[in-house]
Amino acid sequence: MTAPKLRLGVNIDHVATVRNARGGDNPDPVRAALMAEAAGADGITAHLREDRRHIVDADIDGLMAALTTPLNFEMAATAEMQAIALRHKPHAVCLVPEKREERTTEGGLDVAANDNALAAYIAPLAAAGSRVSMFIAADRAQVDACVRIGAPVIELHAGAYADAWAEERWDDRDVELAKITDMAAYAHDQGLEVHVGHGLTYDSVGPIAALPTVAELNIGHFIIGEAIFRGLGPAIEEMRRCMDEARG
Ligand code: PXP
Repeated sequence: MTAPKLRLGVNIDHVATVRNARGGDNPDPVRAALMAEAAGADGITAHLREDRRHIVDADIDGLMAALTTPLNFEMAATAEMQAIALRHKPHAVCLVPEKREERTTEGGLDVAANDNALAAYIAPLAAAGSRVSMFIAADRAQVDACVRIGAPVIELHAGAYADAWAEERWDDRDVELAKITDMAAYAHDQGLEVHVGHGLTYDSVGPIAALPTVAELNIGHFIIGEAIFRGLGPAIEEMRRCMDEARG
């Protein structure tokens, strides 16, 4: 198949992490999001966690008011977050599992075990016009459950692949890449739009970006870290270059 242009969603959560380390207003995630758009981001991703450890409600207000590209609003499937999403009606809502004690989003959402509840949960979000995406492991039962509940988009969790790459466990990396490759193709065949995210870097992004069944990557922590050395615009431009090079 001919691969469509791969979109880059830039996750700006960790601009807020740095801000919150001191309190106050700096650095401003909304300013970062506007710079990301100027540097070629196709969308902005922000995760409003239950504990507000990085992004806070006012950031979502600011992003909704200022962005010219789509906001991908990541959230846990709680009543509080559903009400916030229904108030803002972002372009996309990505449902993620959330545990208070975790450092970051550790696993995928278990859609297969909660399909009835999730089908009811996403219905009003879809009716409000948000494209609902489910952040899941590259697992066939999870993809099938997403089809069953009528979610139009999935995001495959790249964490295990990224960790294997970072720790130079090449056999594990290849196993994880094969799982993502297979499930991206399977989900695409089922009519789902496929995104991939978590832990991607300049080194690890290529094999994922090369998959023609993947439409979007969401990348945050590495880009924000790299921005310390290169500046945010150049850090994003280099990610875009790595993606385009791999896509051919
Ligand atoms: N996609 C989802 C669903 C996520 O939860 C995260 C992390 O918040 C990302 C993408 C971005 O991951 P990273 O910050 O490791 O690039």
